[in-house]
Amino acid sequence: MVSLPKLGIVFGLQTVAYFLSEKIELLDWPKNLPEWPQHLLAERFSNKTHGDFPRWFEAINAMPEQPSHEVLLDEDAVRCVLNLSKETTAVLQDQLMHLHPWRKGPFQIGDIRIDTEWHSDWKWQRLSKTLGTFNGQRVLDIGCGNGYFGWRMLGAGAKEVVGIDPTLLFCMQHQAIQKYFQDQRNWVLPLKVEEIPITTTFDRVLSMGVLYHRRDPQEHIDKVFALTENGGQGIIETLVVETTESLYPEDRYARMRNVWCVPTVDDLCSWMTKAGFSDIQVIDVCTTSFEEQRSTPWMHFESLVHSLNPEDQRLTVEGHPRPVRAMVVGSKN
Ligand SMILES: C[S@@+](CC[C@H](N)C(=O)[O-])C[C@H]1O[C@@H](n2cnc3c(N)ncnc32)[C@H](O)[C@@H]1O
Repeated sequence: MVSLPKLGIVFGLQTVAYFLSEKIELLDWPKNLPEWPQHLLAERFSNKTHGDFPRWFEAINAMPEQPSHEVLLDEDAVRCVLNLSKETTAVLQDQLMHLHPWRKGPFQIGDIRIDTEWHSDWKWQRLSKTLGTFNGQRVLDIGCGNGYFGWRMLGAGAKEVVGIDPTLLFCMQHQAIQKYFQDQRNWVLPLKVEEIPITTTFDRVLSMGVLYHRRDPQEHIDKVFALTENGGQGIIETLVVETTESLYPEDRYARMRNVWCVPTVDDLCSWMTKAGFSDIQVIDVCTTSFEEQRSTPWMHFESLVHSLNPEDQRLTVEGHPRPVRAMVVGSKN
Protein backbone atom coordinates (compact mmCIF):
# COMPACT_ATOMS: atom_id res chain seq x y z
CA MET A 1 0.00 0.00 0.00
CA VAL A 2 1.29 3.47 -0.84
CA SER A 3 1.28 6.05 1.93
CA LEU A 4 0.45 9.70 1.36
CA PRO A 5 3.96 11.18 1.28
CA LYS A 6 5.23 8.31 -0.85
CA LEU A 7 2.55 8.83 -3.48
CA GLY A 8 3.50 12.49 -3.68
CA ILE A 9 7.12 11.56 -4.21
CA VAL A 10 6.22 8.88 -6.70
CA PHE A 11 4.25 11.41 -8.72
CA GLY A 12 7.27 13.74 -8.58
CA LEU A 13 9.57 11.02 -9.84
CA GLN A 14 7.08 10.11 -12.49
CA THR A 15 7.13 13.67 -13.79
CA VAL A 16 10.88 13.37 -14.21
CA ALA A 17 10.54 9.88 -15.66
CA TYR A 18 7.87 11.07 -18.01
CA PHE A 19 9.95 13.85 -19.50
CA LEU A 20 13.03 11.64 -19.74
CA SER A 21 11.46 8.60 -21.27
CA GLU A 22 8.01 9.79 -22.40
CA LYS A 23 6.40 7.23 -20.17
CA ILE A 24 5.98 6.90 -16.46
CA GLU A 25 7.20 4.23 -14.14
CA LEU A 26 3.97 3.17 -12.76
CA LEU A 27 2.47 3.83 -9.48
CA ASP A 28 1.61 0.62 -7.81
CA TRP A 29 -0.14 -2.65 -8.37
CA PRO A 30 -2.32 -4.93 -6.25
CA LYS A 31 0.19 -7.29 -4.63
CA ASN A 32 -2.20 -10.22 -4.88
CA LEU A 33 -2.37 -10.07 -8.70
CA PRO A 34 1.16 -10.99 -9.77
CA GLU A 35 -0.04 -12.93 -12.81
CA TRP A 36 -2.00 -10.02 -14.28
CA PRO A 37 -0.25 -8.06 -17.10
CA GLN A 38 1.47 -5.39 -15.00
CA HIS A 39 3.87 -4.68 -17.88
CA LEU A 40 1.00 -2.96 -19.74
CA LEU A 41 0.74 -0.18 -17.15
CA ALA A 42 3.71 1.93 -18.22
CA GLU A 43 2.66 1.67 -21.85
CA ARG A 44 -0.94 2.63 -21.05
CA PHE A 45 -0.09 5.55 -18.75
CA SER A 46 1.69 7.37 -21.54
CA ASN A 47 1.04 9.53 -24.56
CA LYS A 48 1.27 6.40 -26.72
CA THR A 49 -2.21 5.50 -25.48
CA HIS A 50 -3.67 9.00 -25.56
CA GLY A 51 -2.27 12.30 -26.84
CA ASP A 52 -3.90 14.16 -23.92
CA PHE A 53 -2.01 12.13 -21.34
CA PRO A 54 0.65 14.83 -20.68
CA ARG A 55 -2.06 17.44 -20.10
CA TRP A 56 -3.98 15.19 -17.68
CA PHE A 57 -0.78 14.20 -15.94
CA GLU A 58 0.27 17.83 -15.44
CA ALA A 59 -3.21 18.72 -14.16
CA ILE A 60 -2.96 16.05 -11.45
CA ASN A 61 0.55 17.19 -10.56
CA ALA A 62 -0.66 20.79 -10.27
CA MET A 63 -3.46 19.87 -7.84
CA PRO A 64 -2.71 21.17 -4.35
CA GLU A 65 -0.90 18.70 -2.10
CA GLN A 66 -3.20 18.54 0.87
CA PRO A 67 -4.10 15.57 3.04
CA SER A 68 -7.80 14.90 3.64
CA HIS A 69 -9.12 15.13 7.17
CA GLU A 70 -11.74 12.54 6.49
CA VAL A 71 -13.02 10.40 3.62
CA LEU A 72 -16.70 9.41 3.58
CA LEU A 73 -17.69 6.55 1.32
CA ASP A 74 -21.27 5.88 2.34
CA GLU A 75 -22.93 9.02 1.03
CA ASP A 76 -24.38 9.63 -2.45
CA ALA A 77 -21.41 11.85 -3.32
CA VAL A 78 -18.30 10.06 -2.08
CA ARG A 79 -16.31 12.81 -0.47
CA CYS A 80 -13.27 13.98 1.37
CA VAL A 81 -12.96 16.85 3.79
CA LEU A 82 -10.16 19.26 2.89
CA ASN A 83 -8.97 22.41 4.56
CA LEU A 84 -8.33 24.63 1.54
CA SER A 85 -8.53 28.39 1.11
CA LYS A 86 -10.89 29.83 -1.52
CA GLU A 87 -7.92 30.54 -3.80
CA THR A 88 -6.53 26.99 -3.52
CA THR A 89 -10.00 25.54 -4.04
CA ALA A 90 -10.23 27.54 -7.27
CA VAL A 91 -6.90 26.09 -8.42
CA LEU A 92 -8.08 22.57 -7.63
CA GLN A 93 -11.38 23.10 -9.44
CA ASP A 94 -9.55 24.35 -12.49
CA GLN A 95 -7.21 21.33 -12.55
CA LEU A 96 -10.06 18.87 -11.99
CA MET A 97 -11.82 20.47 -14.95
CA HIS A 98 -8.82 19.52 -17.14
CA LEU A 99 -10.05 15.94 -16.67
CA HIS A 100 -13.44 16.75 -18.29
CA PRO A 101 -15.73 14.95 -19.12
CA TRP A 102 -16.63 13.57 -15.68
CA ARG A 103 -19.23 10.91 -16.41
CA LYS A 104 -19.61 8.78 -13.24
CA GLY A 105 -20.11 10.16 -9.76
CA PRO A 106 -20.92 12.42 -7.92
CA PHE A 107 -17.82 13.27 -5.91
CA GLN A 108 -17.21 16.00 -3.40
CA ILE A 109 -13.59 17.09 -3.00
CA GLY A 110 -13.47 19.62 -0.19
CA ASP A 111 -15.93 22.34 -1.23
CA ILE A 112 -16.01 21.19 -4.87
CA ARG A 113 -19.01 19.18 -5.95
CA ILE A 114 -18.26 17.18 -9.11
CA ASP A 115 -21.75 16.92 -10.55
CA THR A 116 -21.16 14.18 -13.10
CA GLU A 117 -23.18 13.29 -16.21
CA TRP A 118 -24.61 10.24 -14.43
CA HIS A 119 -26.29 10.02 -11.06
CA SER A 120 -24.33 6.82 -10.44
CA ASP A 121 -25.61 6.98 -6.88
CA TRP A 122 -29.04 6.03 -8.26
CA LYS A 123 -27.59 2.93 -9.94
CA TRP A 124 -25.80 2.14 -6.68
CA GLN A 125 -29.11 2.34 -4.78
CA ARG A 126 -30.76 -0.09 -7.23
CA LEU A 127 -27.79 -2.45 -6.90
CA SER A 128 -27.24 -2.30 -3.17
CA LYS A 129 -30.88 -2.74 -2.19
CA THR A 130 -30.54 -6.37 -3.34
CA LEU A 131 -26.84 -7.06 -2.89
CA GLY A 132 -26.78 -5.69 0.67
CA THR A 133 -23.48 -5.83 2.47
CA PHE A 134 -20.09 -6.39 0.83
CA ASN A 135 -18.49 -7.24 4.16
CA GLY A 136 -14.96 -8.59 3.74
CA GLN A 137 -15.43 -9.26 0.02
CA ARG A 138 -12.92 -8.95 -2.80
CA VAL A 139 -14.66 -7.51 -5.83
CA LEU A 140 -13.74 -7.18 -9.49
CA ASP A 141 -15.48 -4.29 -11.30
CA ILE A 142 -15.12 -4.76 -15.07
CA GLY A 143 -15.48 -1.46 -16.96
CA CYS A 144 -15.40 0.45 -13.68
CA GLY A 145 -15.14 3.95 -15.20
CA ASN A 146 -13.37 6.24 -12.73
CA GLY A 147 -13.97 3.86 -9.82
CA TYR A 148 -17.06 5.52 -8.28
CA PHE A 149 -18.73 2.18 -7.52
CA GLY A 150 -15.51 0.87 -5.97
CA TRP A 151 -15.74 3.60 -3.33
CA ARG A 152 -19.37 2.75 -2.66
CA MET A 153 -18.52 -0.96 -2.31
CA LEU A 154 -15.75 -0.13 0.17
CA GLY A 155 -18.31 2.01 2.01
CA ALA A 156 -20.55 -1.09 2.13
CA GLY A 157 -17.77 -3.16 3.73
CA ALA A 158 -15.73 -4.58 0.81
CA LYS A 159 -12.15 -5.51 1.65
CA GLU A 160 -10.77 -4.62 -1.78
CA VAL A 161 -12.15 -3.57 -5.17
CA VAL A 162 -10.10 -4.09 -8.31
CA GLY A 163 -11.54 -2.05 -11.17
CA ILE A 164 -10.40 -2.33 -14.77
CA ASP A 165 -11.17 0.14 -17.53
CA PRO A 166 -9.31 0.76 -20.80
CA THR A 167 -10.38 4.43 -21.04
CA LEU A 168 -7.28 6.26 -19.87
CA LEU A 169 -9.10 9.46 -18.87
CA PHE A 170 -11.18 7.54 -16.34
CA CYS A 171 -8.00 5.98 -14.89
CA MET A 172 -6.56 9.51 -14.59
CA GLN A 173 -9.72 10.74 -12.86
CA HIS A 174 -9.21 7.94 -10.36
CA GLN A 175 -5.60 9.07 -9.86
CA ALA A 176 -6.89 12.58 -9.13
CA ILE A 177 -9.39 11.28 -6.58
CA GLN A 178 -6.73 9.06 -5.04
CA LYS A 179 -4.53 12.10 -4.53
CA TYR A 180 -7.01 13.07 -1.81
CA PHE A 181 -8.59 9.77 -0.76
CA GLN A 182 -5.27 7.90 -0.39
CA ASP A 183 -6.95 4.55 -0.06
CA GLN A 184 -5.30 1.75 -1.97
CA ARG A 185 -8.12 -0.71 -1.48
CA ASN A 186 -9.79 0.68 -4.64
CA TRP A 187 -7.84 0.21 -7.88
CA VAL A 188 -8.59 1.42 -11.39
CA LEU A 189 -6.23 -0.37 -13.75
CA PRO A 190 -6.10 0.49 -17.47
CA LEU A 191 -6.90 -3.02 -18.68
CA LYS A 192 -9.51 -4.68 -20.87
CA VAL A 193 -11.42 -7.68 -19.57
CA GLU A 194 -10.00 -9.82 -22.36
CA GLU A 195 -6.46 -9.04 -21.12
CA ILE A 196 -6.86 -10.45 -17.63
CA PRO A 197 -6.17 -14.11 -16.89
CA ILE A 198 -8.59 -16.26 -14.88
CA THR A 199 -5.93 -17.19 -12.37
CA THR A 200 -7.58 -15.21 -9.55
CA THR A 201 -11.25 -15.29 -8.62
CA PHE A 202 -13.34 -12.74 -6.73
CA ASP A 203 -16.28 -12.96 -4.31
CA ARG A 204 -18.29 -10.69 -6.57
CA VAL A 205 -17.65 -9.80 -10.21
CA LEU A 206 -19.54 -6.82 -11.64
CA SER A 207 -19.88 -6.00 -15.30
CA MET A 208 -21.98 -2.87 -15.59
CA GLY A 209 -22.46 -1.13 -18.92
CA VAL A 210 -19.96 -3.39 -20.73
CA LEU A 211 -21.91 -6.30 -22.23
CA TYR A 212 -23.33 -4.34 -25.17
CA HIS A 213 -19.80 -3.18 -26.06
CA ARG A 214 -18.61 -6.78 -26.44
CA ARG A 215 -18.96 -8.52 -29.79
CA ASP A 216 -19.63 -11.89 -28.18
CA PRO A 217 -21.90 -11.47 -25.13
CA GLN A 218 -21.80 -15.16 -24.21
CA GLU A 219 -18.00 -15.13 -24.17
CA HIS A 220 -18.12 -12.06 -21.88
CA ILE A 221 -20.53 -13.71 -19.43
CA ASP A 222 -18.44 -16.91 -19.51
CA LYS A 223 -15.45 -14.81 -18.47
CA VAL A 224 -17.43 -13.17 -15.65
CA PHE A 225 -18.33 -16.68 -14.46
CA ALA A 226 -14.74 -17.91 -14.66
CA LEU A 227 -13.55 -14.91 -12.60
CA THR A 228 -16.18 -15.53 -9.88
CA GLU A 229 -15.17 -17.50 -6.78
CA ASN A 230 -17.16 -20.65 -5.97
CA GLY A 231 -19.96 -19.48 -3.70
CA GLY A 232 -19.72 -15.97 -5.14
CA GLN A 233 -21.93 -13.89 -7.43
CA GLY A 234 -21.73 -12.37 -10.89
CA ILE A 235 -23.66 -9.19 -11.61
CA ILE A 236 -24.41 -8.06 -15.15
CA GLU A 237 -25.93 -4.64 -15.78
CA THR A 238 -26.69 -3.77 -19.37
CA LEU A 239 -28.92 -1.98 -21.82
CA VAL A 240 -31.84 -4.24 -22.69
CA VAL A 241 -34.77 -4.16 -25.09
CA GLU A 242 -38.32 -4.95 -24.02
CA THR A 243 -39.19 -6.43 -27.42
CA THR A 244 -39.41 -10.16 -28.18
CA GLU A 245 -35.95 -10.40 -29.75
CA SER A 246 -32.53 -9.07 -28.83
CA LEU A 247 -31.37 -6.12 -30.93
CA TYR A 248 -28.15 -6.33 -32.96
CA PRO A 249 -27.80 -2.72 -34.24
CA GLU A 250 -26.27 -2.50 -37.70
CA ASP A 251 -25.07 1.01 -37.09
CA ARG A 252 -25.25 3.23 -34.01
CA TYR A 253 -27.43 2.83 -30.95
CA ALA A 254 -28.31 6.09 -29.14
CA ARG A 255 -25.41 7.65 -31.09
CA MET A 256 -22.92 5.11 -29.69
CA ARG A 257 -20.79 3.47 -32.34
CA ASN A 258 -19.64 0.36 -30.51
CA VAL A 259 -22.90 -1.27 -29.47
CA TRP A 260 -23.07 -4.84 -30.79
CA CYS A 261 -26.03 -6.34 -28.96
CA VAL A 262 -28.84 -5.05 -26.75
CA PRO A 263 -30.39 -8.24 -25.35
CA THR A 264 -33.83 -9.03 -24.04
CA VAL A 265 -33.85 -9.85 -20.33
CA ASP A 266 -34.77 -13.44 -21.25
CA ASP A 267 -31.73 -13.82 -23.50
CA LEU A 268 -29.51 -12.28 -20.84
CA CYS A 269 -30.79 -14.74 -18.22
CA SER A 270 -30.35 -17.72 -20.54
CA TRP A 271 -26.77 -16.63 -21.38
CA MET A 272 -26.07 -16.46 -17.64
CA THR A 273 -27.52 -19.93 -17.16
CA LYS A 274 -25.45 -21.22 -20.07
CA ALA A 275 -22.32 -19.74 -18.48
CA GLY A 276 -23.04 -21.77 -15.32
CA PHE A 277 -24.74 -19.26 -13.03
CA SER A 278 -27.71 -20.40 -10.93
CA ASP A 279 -30.32 -18.64 -8.75
CA ILE A 280 -30.56 -15.95 -11.41
CA GLN A 281 -32.46 -12.89 -10.23
CA VAL A 282 -33.47 -9.87 -12.27
CA ILE A 283 -33.00 -7.23 -9.59
CA ASP A 284 -33.97 -4.16 -11.59
CA VAL A 285 -35.26 -2.99 -14.97
CA CYS A 286 -35.63 0.75 -15.53
CA THR A 287 -35.84 3.33 -18.27
CA THR A 288 -33.00 5.82 -18.01
CA SER A 289 -34.40 9.28 -17.28
CA PHE A 290 -33.13 12.75 -18.22
CA GLU A 291 -32.56 13.35 -14.51
CA GLU A 292 -30.25 10.35 -14.19
CA GLN A 293 -28.12 11.04 -17.31
CA ARG A 294 -27.68 14.64 -18.38
CA SER A 295 -25.20 17.34 -19.36
CA THR A 296 -23.78 19.24 -16.39
CA PRO A 297 -20.99 21.80 -15.91
CA TRP A 298 -18.67 18.80 -15.39
CA MET A 299 -19.85 17.04 -18.59
CA HIS A 300 -20.81 19.72 -21.06
CA PHE A 301 -21.05 17.46 -24.11
CA GLU A 302 -24.42 16.24 -25.36
CA SER A 303 -26.16 13.56 -23.29
CA LEU A 304 -29.21 11.29 -23.27
CA VAL A 305 -31.74 13.89 -24.41
CA HIS A 306 -29.73 14.44 -27.59
CA SER A 307 -29.76 10.69 -28.35
CA LEU A 308 -33.54 10.46 -28.50
CA ASN A 309 -35.91 11.28 -31.33
CA PRO A 310 -37.25 14.77 -30.43
CA GLU A 311 -40.63 13.87 -31.92
CA ASP A 312 -41.00 10.56 -30.12
CA GLN A 313 -38.87 10.15 -27.04
CA ARG A 314 -39.72 6.45 -26.81
CA LEU A 315 -37.17 6.03 -29.63
CA THR A 316 -33.49 6.78 -30.14
CA VAL A 317 -32.44 9.05 -32.99
CA GLU A 318 -31.79 5.87 -35.02
CA GLY A 319 -35.34 4.61 -34.37
CA HIS A 320 -34.45 1.92 -31.80
CA PRO A 321 -36.24 1.62 -28.43
CA ARG A 322 -34.84 4.21 -26.00
CA PRO A 323 -32.33 3.06 -23.35
CA VAL A 324 -33.69 0.71 -20.71
CA ARG A 325 -31.24 -0.97 -18.34
CA ALA A 326 -31.46 -4.24 -16.42
CA MET A 327 -29.42 -5.71 -13.60
CA VAL A 328 -29.17 -9.47 -13.20
CA VAL A 329 -27.39 -11.41 -10.46
CA GLY A 330 -26.34 -15.05 -10.62
CA SER A 331 -24.65 -17.35 -8.12
CA LYS A 332 -21.72 -19.68 -8.71
CA ASN A 333 -22.10 -22.80 -6.61
C1 LIG B 1 -21.11 2.57 -19.99
S1 LIG B 1 -19.59 2.62 -19.15
C2 LIG B 1 -20.06 1.93 -17.60
C3 LIG B 1 -19.26 2.43 -16.43
C4 LIG B 1 -19.74 1.91 -15.08
N1 LIG B 1 -19.47 0.48 -14.96
C5 LIG B 1 -21.19 2.18 -14.87
O1 LIG B 1 -21.96 1.23 -14.82
O2 LIG B 1 -21.56 3.34 -14.77
C6 LIG B 1 -18.71 1.28 -19.90
C7 LIG B 1 -17.26 1.23 -19.49
O3 LIG B 1 -16.71 0.00 -19.97
C8 LIG B 1 -15.41 0.25 -20.40
N2 LIG B 1 -15.03 -0.81 -21.34
C9 LIG B 1 -15.26 -0.86 -22.68
N3 LIG B 1 -14.72 -1.98 -23.21
C10 LIG B 1 -14.17 -2.66 -22.16
C11 LIG B 1 -13.42 -3.88 -22.08
N4 LIG B 1 -13.15 -4.60 -23.17
N5 LIG B 1 -12.98 -4.27 -20.86
C12 LIG B 1 -13.23 -3.53 -19.76
N6 LIG B 1 -13.91 -2.35 -19.79
C13 LIG B 1 -14.37 -1.93 -20.98
C14 LIG B 1 -15.47 1.64 -21.00
O4 LIG B 1 -14.21 2.26 -21.05
C15 LIG B 1 -16.43 2.35 -20.08
O5 LIG B 1 -15.81 3.05 -19.05
